[in-house]
Amino acid sequence: MAIAQENPLLEGLQIRRAPDDCILVIFGASGDLTKRKLFPALYSLAYRRLLPEHFAVVGISRTEETDDEFRDRMKEAVQAHSRVWELLASGMRYVAMDFADDEREDRLTETLTELDEERGTGGNRVYYLATPPGAFETVVRAVGKRRSAQGWARLIIEKPFGRDLASARQLQKTIEEFFEEREVFRIDHYLGKETVQNMLALRFANGIFEPIWNRQFVDHIQITVAETLGIEGRAGYYEQAGAVRDIFQNHMLQLVAITAMEPPIDFTADSVRNEKVKVLRAMHTPGPKSVVRGQYGRGYVEGEEVPGYREEQDVDPNSMTETYVAAKLYVDNWRWADTPFYLRTGKRLARRETTIAIQFKRAPHPPFEELSAERLKPNVLIVHVQPDEGVSLAIGVKVPGQGMTIRTVHMDFLYGGAFRTGLPEAYERLILDAMLGDATLFTRIDEVEEQWSLVDAIVAAWARDRPAFPNYSAGTWGPTAADELMERDGRAWRQR
Ligand code: BG6
Repeated sequence: MAIAQENPLLEGLQIRRAPDDCILVIFGASGDLTKRKLFPALYSLAYRRLLPEHFAVVGISRTEETDDEFRDRMKEAVQAHSRVWELLASGMRYVAMDFADDEREDRLTETLTELDEERGTGGNRVYYLATPPGAFETVVRAVGKRRSAQGWARLIIEKPFGRDLASARQLQKTIEEFFEEREVFRIDHYLGKETVQNMLALRFANGIFEPIWNRQFVDHIQITVAETLGIEGRAGYYEQAGAVRDIFQNHMLQLVAITAMEPPIDFTADSVRNEKVKVLRAMHTPGPKSVVRGQYGRGYVEGEEVPGYREEQDVDPNSMTETYVAAKLYVDNWRWADTPFYLRTGKRLARRETTIAIQFKRAPHPPFEELSAERLKPNVLIVHVQPDEGVSLAIGVKVPGQGMTIRTVHMDFLYGGAFRTGLPEAYERLILDAMLGDATLFTRIDEVEEQWSLVDAIVAAWARDRPAFPNYSAGTWGPTAADELMERDGRAWRQR
């Protein structure tokens, strides 16, 4: 299907990649992710006619539900347009089962075989594990044992992949009993975001950035993943995860890898992931002074009073779970030696913002009399991952009039303005890529292992002390210790 064509920038673009016919089997179909992300993404793919011609979706979870109830619930989750909805709904089934229940599993196999006959899906399966992580191994065994002799099978696994290096390896061992690495698609939905992929385009499709993308020209890099949301009723998961496992281990380290990687020789899954894993391997374990953790107390977010983390439903009133992490990391290689990467992420911060900011070194000598080197602001290239998706470059310009006064202004590219179209959701891209068997935007096991090695070392150091939580108020920019982390280096967190 061609995209709407009024915009000249989109002219001539045919976006058509056709996956094989298949059945998508979603484990955890009564969960939040299925309703909030997976079905809206599937609906949008159906709307854009990007799904295979012969296609079916089977939802699985313990909750007793009929096919029709499942359809109604999912229809509510999407802004359904009846014609498109029919396309999806006619191939939808629901099987209520405990993942370890052999008898029910046979019912699942029967349903899938029936659908193959009815819908012509040829034995091809995409198994989507959207269950709580505790069920991953059981589900992998259940589907692995019953692999159809016909067609292909692919496994999409939600994060978190393990909760440390040892458990990630254990899960991997179980997967390897039944699946090959090329059949496994580990989700990090940040990689499905247009703006994150655009980082690759920006770096490798433009001649001007690469020569200055290194320690000689870059002073430091700041990556911010700030949320105004709290934990959204997910205490059971979040109490165990905290910010370091929820965001830092996966989304943030992937953003570092994409920012710091060498140009791959091509854009195949292995070439891209080979370069990313080298960055992860080159990362130093930060010393205790280079990591700050925080937990929010009561405060005001967007004008509304919100409870502190320890007051959230089902959270331990003495919880030591962190809702904020900041860290200074080094990528110890030829390109980046001595160039700090400052990372921060937190819940209930002042504003929702995900940005990657490349701060360049100051101009070496200001030839303008009135201007001291300190007052001349450095250039910063900011990739706005979300919201207000785009890229901006901070440059110094002359203020009109007498004298030579310099001010910083921003040259902006905004997706909305340039392409006049909304950006697709990350999950649309990722579901389609898994159906196509393209693993470029999924995390390979060696990347996951490197990510856990770093996080395990950080968490191990935390066992030695007990910070006074809460240490930042909801609606602020996090603990003062995070500002001090920057101040010690004569730097500051970027404010928009
Ligand atoms: C998820 C985390 O992976 O990412 C959530 O589990 C977080 O806690 C979410 O809110 C943020 O995703 P996005 O796409 O809204 O930035």
